[in-house]
Amino acid sequence: MKVFLFFGLVAFALADVTRFEGDKVLRLKPVLDEHVKVIKELAISTQLDFWSPDNPELVTTNTDVDIRVPAMYLDMVFTILQQSNMKYEVLIQDVQDAVDSQADSKGSPRAHGYTKYNTWSDIESWITSISSSNSELISTEVIGKTYEGRPMTVLKIGKKSSSTKPAIFMDCGIHAREWISPAFCQWFVNEAVSTYGSDAQMTSLLNQMDVIVLPVFNIDGYIYTHTNDRMWRKTRAKNSGTSCIGTDPNRNFDAGWCTVGASSNPCSETFCGSSVESEIEVKNVANFIRKNKSIIKAYITIHSYSQLLLFPYSYTYELAADHSELVSQHHVAEGASAALRSLYGTRYTSGPGASTIYLAAGGSDDWAYDLGVKYSYTFELRDTGRYGFLLPESQIKPTCEETMLAVKYIAAYVQKNL
Ligand code: ARG
Ligand code: ZN
Repeated sequence: MKVFLFFGLVAFALADVTRFEGDKVLRLKPVLDEHVKVIKELAISTQLDFWSPDNPELVTTNTDVDIRVPAMYLDMVFTILQQSNMKYEVLIQDVQDAVDSQADSKGSPRAHGYTKYNTWSDIESWITSISSSNSELISTEVIGKTYEGRPMTVLKIGKKSSSTKPAIFMDCGIHAREWISPAFCQWFVNEAVSTYGSDAQMTSLLNQMDVIVLPVFNIDGYIYTHTNDRMWRKTRAKNSGTSCIGTDPNRNFDAGWCTVGASSNPCSETFCGSSVESEIEVKNVANFIRKNKSIIKAYITIHSYSQLLLFPYSYTYELAADHSELVSQHHVAEGASAALRSLYGTRYTSGPGASTIYLAAGGSDDWAYDLGVKYSYTFELRDTGRYGFLLPESQIKPTCEETMLAVKYIAAYVQKNL
């Protein structure tokens, strides 16, 4: 009896999990206005999941469009692509296979590890254990709770000091499905504490500055990608007047809010929210940064994928700041990309968001910059689309190692120019 009840519950729990059998990820190559029109029309008539760019409104000629096409739409999509003579490649043959083979690391499945994609509960206990075993370097602070009531904890890493130290703020996991991002924040914290005292640059950095790390920004969404839908992006907050859930946290900041590259439709993946900072997670982070505005010298936010290092602005084509500052923004981004590439040859593109990828308002980087945080960078980590969001665990280590070099490059520059 108990056994049946158990299996019944398992079946019930599994029933809610989104599967991706037969789905493919295609890279479309629109070169004509007609192609762009076809893609936008397809987006309206079917349930396409835009991987890059993040929504159909951002599609333009001569930029690749990566989309996950659910199995049921494949025939139709292939027919339309042929009819319109649009070139494409298949990036992922079977999305469910890619989901299932993501976990290819050899670590034990039920423990926290730096080369695997950890669940939130493993990350939560990791926060407690790494901060208590490095109490001379790490202190924690709860900056608020998520929509579903989970505490958002930041780790402040640096040598304790009686005077207030300048700081760098870094967050990961704004978008739920970008799993490599939280993996990097965990890697960073571990590297910081284990190389402090031996690595000259890390030691000097943490002596003079603090690095404040938010390992998972969108915790509710991250959990949902583990339990229900691997491809979830937004928060998990209810929206009034619709059954569509969630807001794009990186469209919810007060930076040209909802003017371009964002949607006012709650069902869109780039929904800007009902108002600026409507998302409690966004409000918590914004409040924390506002409160610590005088000490925060740099803002770094980690996303995936595309291998980009972006800086403001994304909400306008106008260039941020005065000339000398602009030159240093470029300069730092280029130096950081070069440092990253030196390890495994991974190529990054850098530049202002709007001209490098697309106009998109409401992002955390632009908001932090306009608040006065001069060095504000968005990383889009590996890869360029072979696996996209489904980057295998075997790539966590090289990705984090090379990204460390870029982040340390930025940190060193900021430190030198305090
Ligand atoms: N892919 C990221 C996003 O769309 C890029 C963020 C760049 N910054 C920005 N403010 N849009 O959220
Ligand atoms: Zn993202």
